[in-house]
Formats: sequence, C-alpha cells, structure tokens
Amino acid sequence: SWTTGNVIEEQLTAIREQVGDRRAICALSGGVDSAVAAALVQKAIGSRLTCVYVDHGLMRKGETEQVEKDFVAATGVQLKVVDAADRFLDALKGVSDPEQKRKIIGREFIRVFEQAQAEIIAEAPGDQPVEFLVQGTLYPDVVESGGGTGTANIKSHHNVGGLPEDLEFQLIEPLRQLFKDEVRMVGSELGLPDEIVQRQPFPGPGLGIRIVGEVTRERLDLLRDADAIAREELSAAGLDRDIWQCPVVLLADVRSVGVQGDGRTYGHPIVLRPVSSEDAMTADWTRMPYETLARISTRITNEVADVNRVVLDVTSKPPGTIEWE
Ligand code: XMP
Repeated sequence: SWTTGNVIEEQLTAIREQVGDRRAICALSGGVDSAVAAALVQKAIGSRLTCVYVDHGLMRKGETEQVEKDFVAATGVQLKVVDAADRFLDALKGVSDPEQKRKIIGREFIRVFEQAQAEIIAEAPGDQPVEFLVQGTLYPDVVESGGGTGTANIKSHHNVGGLPEDLEFQLIEPLRQLFKDEVRMVGSELGLPDEIVQRQPFPGPGLGIRIVGEVTRERLDLLRDADAIAREELSAAGLDRDIWQCPVVLLADVRSVGVQGDGRTYGHPIVLRPVSSEDAMTADWTRMPYETLARISTRITNEVADVNRVVLDVTSKPPGTIEWE
C-alpha cells in the first residue's frame, strides 16, 4: 500500500542503484519540487550530490537565505550558491518586453549553471565523474509531455527557461510518480520545514516578470517590500492554504496622484493578484476577506516609499494569466 515511507525507501534504493559511486548535481530553485528531489537524492548518496542555487537577484525577501540556511540545515546538503544578481540586472537593463525578459533570464541562468557545474567538476577532478542531473519532475509533468524520458528536456515553466538540451547527463527524477500533495508529504517526512514544503508556486524568472516595465534594483527592492507585507498578512489571516498563490505586481511605468500627510504624491500602483486554482491551467480570483485586503493596502501604502495605491486584480484565467507577464 502507498505510504510516504515506502515511496522513500523505494526511491532511495533505485537512486543508489542508478548512481553507484558516481556523482550528481541538482539545480535548486527554491521551489518545493527541486527541494524535495534534492533531499531524497542527498539521503541516498550524501555528499556525492552537489546542489547549485543561482541567486539571480529576482527572489523575494528571505528566499535565498531560506535555501542557504533552512534547507542546508534540514538536509546537510552540499550547496554551491552563485550570486549572479549583477549579471542578471546588467542583462535586463533597458528591457521592458515580457518575452524578452524571460529569454534573457533563461539564457543567463543556463550560462551561470554551466559555469557552476564546470567548477564543481574542476574542484575535485580526481573524484568520480558527475554524470547525473537531478530534476523535480512530477507525474503531471510526465503526462503533459507525453511520458517521454531520458533527455534533459523540460518545459520552460519548470526551470528558468529550461536547461540546455545538449547536456550530457542522465536524469534522476525521483518524483516522477508523485502528485504535488504527495511530494509535500515526502518532503515533510524527510524533515524539510513547512516554509519549504508548503510553499506556493513562484515563477522561475521571479520578480523580473512582476515588474511591468524595466527591472531595476530600486524597483526590485520596492516590490520585495510590498510582497513581504502581502505574504505576512495573508499568513497571519490563515489564508495560505486557501489561496493558490498571490502574485504582487509593481506597475513601474504607471504613476497616479495621491495625498499622504499634507502633501501630494505621484507614485506607483501595486497590484494584488490572489488566485484559486487546482493546477494553474485555469484559475479564479480569490474572494478573500476585505479586512485582510484593507490591512495589506494600508501597510503597503504606509511602509513602502513611492507606492500610493493598491489595486485588486479581479480577472479569471482565462482571460488573464496568473502572472502579469
Ligand atoms: P501563468 O501566468 O501562465 O502561470 O498563468 C501559471 C503558473 O506558472 C507559474 N509560472 C512559471 N513558473 N517558470 C516557472 O517555474 C516560469 O517561467 C513561469 N511562468 C509562470 C505561475 O507562477 C503560475 O503558478
């Protein structure tokens, strides 16, 4: 019968058989799937797994620290963190077009990941070869892509733009038979904290596609603050499980007139986009309590400089996508 314990035991055996005494790497995104996959493989082969976390500077507040501290503390995994924020921001300079942003972020991600991988191999040349790439592919992903396997070919949604197709790795995909809720159970059983296991979906390109307009350091800081407030209040109101995810979007190219204290302001709007969904293919806007909306609005306009308006997105998907870009 299905128990998380059985699934874990089965996978540990399979991974050990597959990898033998060779080595594996895994790109951590901060999301649930890659975290649980990495934790499983770590348990199976220990320090012969190295995880790579590319910090593209487009993360939300506390996310990088969560991976660096909480995930490592929970798993003991060997982690290489690459601080590539400058590189990503340079590449994004002057770019407002959403598809262009996604392409640039995907391209830079691959370059940084390949470089990290080369470094891992170079750092221990005498060791066993690095032949395996761990991916957090879930059962629904397998079904959607026609059940194919064997190559590092993943939907652009799963990782920032997908990994290079000419990668000469064998894949380890220990979550291929699982649904999201099962993955969460496996993660908990492996000792991962709720902050990782119960995370809501977050796009690979991060806050880069939640700033309508050019992505700059200042705008990222502002959006990070607004997003942190929204997340804090949603959690405090006990809404984390009711809401599929709540993108917080900065309309950086829009300004509107406001009044704060004695003065006129001319600031940016922040959009709240709480949605309810089963699988993100379709979604409805969440009818969430006015009191919570009010608290988020008051706090954001009081605490985040240059934001003088908070608006609620009441569009389903379709016609709107969940993200604004
Ligand atoms: P949309 O905006 O297409 O989003 O309705 C559907 C779901 O996918 C997430 N999303 C992404 N996830 N890389 C990801 O890993 C991406 O490039 C990406 N774009 C959108 C989005 O947050 C939502 O959960």
